[in-house]
Amino acid sequence: MFRAVRCGPDDVIVTRGAQQAFDLIARAVIEPGAVVAVEDPGYPPARRLFESLGADVVPVPVDAEGVVVASLPPGARLVYVTPSHQFPLGTTMSLRRRLELIAWCERHDALVIEDDYDSEFRFTERPLDPLQSLDRTGRVVYVGSFSKTMHPALRLGFVVAPEALRDGLAAARLVTDWHGDPVLEEAMATFIERGELARHLRRTRRRYRQRHDTLVAAVESHLGEWFEPLPAGAGLHIAARLRPGVELRLEEAARAAAREGVAVNTLAEMSASASGPAGLALGYGLVSEEDIAEGLRVLARCVRASRQ
Ligand SMILES: Cc1ncc(COP(=O)(O)O)c(C=O)c1O
Repeated sequence: MFRAVRCGPDDVIVTRGAQQAFDLIARAVIEPGAVVAVEDPGYPPARRLFESLGADVVPVPVDAEGVVVASLPPGARLVYVTPSHQFPLGTTMSLRRRLELIAWCERHDALVIEDDYDSEFRFTERPLDPLQSLDRTGRVVYVGSFSKTMHPALRLGFVVAPEALRDGLAAARLVTDWHGDPVLEEAMATFIERGELARHLRRTRRRYRQRHDTLVAAVESHLGEWFEPLPAGAGLHIAARLRPGVELRLEEAARAAAREGVAVNTLAEMSASASGPAGLALGYGLVSEEDIAEGLRVLARCVRASRQ
């Protein structure tokens, strides 16, 4: 509806969140030992899921344009990416990189999972076309979620898969949970048909944009000495990168802040390799605009105490 995904109603498979979508896709596509490429830093639940199904998961670095296609392992069967809003760094994959990724998948007979988990909250002008709509040869499996737009406890997401994958997804579903929750799906369909989701998004998009801008400004004023905020064009979190030469015990700072009720994640928690960027991911989905400055004051105190 918001993302220019090319599909009709019959092309959409409703799942129990994005996580079940990843599970069904992986079951349909990979055998134990198959190579799956994931962004690094990236979304740990996806990486762990592929590992739990026996995949050989290979982390691939991300730069300012998105996943570095030149670093993809040639044998990868599946590539997992977050092009609209890289998790956790927040960058948007460039059009050039999108085209390069699709071409790579065609050359290497691989599929790509496009995890579009939060782009309904896009604050910039027109978003770039999703990989799914650029794909002409059935390489892209598009995954959406209602966890950010509505609530994670709903466990509602969806997949738009290339024709060739649909039987495999149906078979995977049959051996896992047979079907989703029809009552919940019907309720959500009615909510969407009545225009309530669109209304809800218009309202919340404005609110989240204000929180995003307030948080970026608060990071600059309270943490700017140590961190550079990476403003995001979408979503419900930003990343703040440690400035070159700054030495902090970030895990210790994050633990101390959590004890005072301020929950942040380190980028290291989301990296599969030790060479990933150092910094923090700061969410603003659950914090009111008024509480952001106070939260950042607490965090700044914990960061100061963790200096090496
Ligand atoms: C990168 C990423 N993908 C997907 C999701 C949503 O997952 P699910 O729909 O399984 O709740 C999230 C939510 O936090 C996320 O951060």
